[in-house]
Amino acid sequence: TYVVTESCVRCRYTDCVEVCPVDCFHGGPTMLVIDPQECIDCAVCVAECPVDAIYPDDEVPADQQDFIALNARLAQQWPVINRREEAPADAADWESVTDKRDQIEE
Ligand code: SF4
Ligand code: F3S
Repeated sequence: TYVVTESCVRCRYTDCVEVCPVDCFHGGPTMLVIDPQECIDCAVCVAECPVDAIYPDDEVPADQQDFIALNARLAQQWPVINRREEAPADAADWESVTDKRDQIEE
């Protein structure tokens, strides 16, 4: 499966969702996650993300491993998102912030 990592938090560009052939992105207030039970490993979403937030699960950086479980858990909680939405007004300000787990709203 593919995994959305910390870069997505408060950037939430949603470019990724329109290319997913199986609608496995789920949207929360400040980030998106991928449902590991639905993802078919096609990889097309990776290049769509302007902040490189998406990785295959076996290539998730060491300091982002907790996002594997976080995607699985929150995909059960958040609704499917398959239409692009306007990014947050301050999304660009968050691109360079690396430590932003505390901004994940469930
Ligand atoms: Fe969807 Fe393919 Fe990305 Fe999985 S790898 S989330 S199936 S676009
Ligand atoms: Fe997040 Fe990148 Fe998609 S910022 S919403 S994973 S395009």
